[in-house]
Amino acid sequence: PYEYFGRLRETEPVYKNEMWDGWIVTRYEDVRQCLQDDEHLSVQVEADRLRDSSLDIPQTKEMFPKWIIYLDPPDHTKLRRIIGEAFNPEMVANQRAEVEEVTNSLIEEMEQQAPGEIEFIEQFAHQLPVHVICKIMGIPLEESDDLGKWSTDIGLTLFHYYNADNRHERTEQSIREFTQYLQEVVKDRRENPQDDLISYLNQAEADGEQLTEDEVVATAVLLLFAGHETTTKLLANGVLELQRHPEQMQLLREDPSLAPKAVEEILRYQGTSKSLTRGVVKDFELRGKQIEAGDRILLSQAAANRDPRKFDDPDTFDITRGSMEHLGFGHGTHHCLGAPLARLEARVAFSQLVQAFPEMKLATDEIEWTRSPLVRGPEELPIQL
Ligand code: HEM
Repeated sequence: PYEYFGRLRETEPVYKNEMWDGWIVTRYEDVRQCLQDDEHLSVQVEADRLRDSSLDIPQTKEMFPKWIIYLDPPDHTKLRRIIGEAFNPEMVANQRAEVEEVTNSLIEEMEQQAPGEIEFIEQFAHQLPVHVICKIMGIPLEESDDLGKWSTDIGLTLFHYYNADNRHERTEQSIREFTQYLQEVVKDRRENPQDDLISYLNQAEADGEQLTEDEVVATAVLLLFAGHETTTKLLANGVLELQRHPEQMQLLREDPSLAPKAVEEILRYQGTSKSLTRGVVKDFELRGKQIEAGDRILLSQAAANRDPRKFDDPDTFDITRGSMEHLGFGHGTHHCLGAPLARLEARVAFSQLVQAFPEMKLATDEIEWTRSPLVRGPEELPIQL
């Protein structure tokens, strides 16, 4: 994404791409401005586009438009308030002990395989987020394998994995199973509320209004999905970049207090979220280009996060940089609500991993990236411990 979109950023920062049939925006200032522009741009029309398509995926078409990421204000506001309250700083801080414990136990399992080779995504990057989000939501850990599969399959359609076989059918099947499963959990928590996020969603109110049972199920599916796919990829991208820059890994090992800055730099330099899309609902002008209602826009965070107008020496990976102004978690109305949780997991994971495995090395130079225009992460990450 860096070469092509980087070139556009320098030559045609607002570019009409005929193949994609939409605009590509690549400069930091423009991407940021578009992300807070609810007057001209909409996420809801992106969900409408899927609903109006000829794809035979009825459950998916019903589920996606209920998700907060596909709602424009004012519909968006109620859910944002409810979910935002749940992911408050205190709740996230309370997860620290759990995150540390899970990280330790995953590292212990890996240590038993040292100095051998492991598949980092399968053994660590996937496990930590799924464990933490299950715990928060109140889902028994025995279900985490199913959950992992369901989430991965949802990503096939949501993130446009264009080379995955039968991706729409797989998404549909998983949405159906996921919904059935969560309907039962939601019913159970209505009768026996626990100290978990599903029970909270059942009774939460914004402006005197509660969520319907359907909305609770849809929101729970979204949170379980959002809570782990993206974080898994961030953990993998981080380990990959630390391996590729051994002097930076050494710095982090010597000074674990650099972990928060290192996480921000990974989000900027090799973030999970490469691009976000929006539909245009009202004509506007950007850098002299006329953008019309009905057009689509792709906002390239990957290019924006390496815009030299914003970041000095942007193609250098420097964990001491510490800028939190990257757009890795989006910006504005839909800015990631799980950012504090993702940050916590990544900070704990990287600081413990570099201590535990000072000798770890990538077991391959050939990285196969996921084939998605929207997210970035390696398909596999074999590591020599
Ligand atoms: C929204 C990235 C982790 C929950 C977003 C958006 C981005 C993003 C870019 C904005 C989408 C848009 O503007 O269209 C990430 C990354 C993560 C991560 C890179 C990990 C490294 C999480 C976690 C959770 C979460 C752990 C919760 C458990 C959400 C929710 C929204 C969101 C609920 C929707 C907010 C809204 O529409 O108002 N995320 N996310 N995310 N994220 Fe995350």
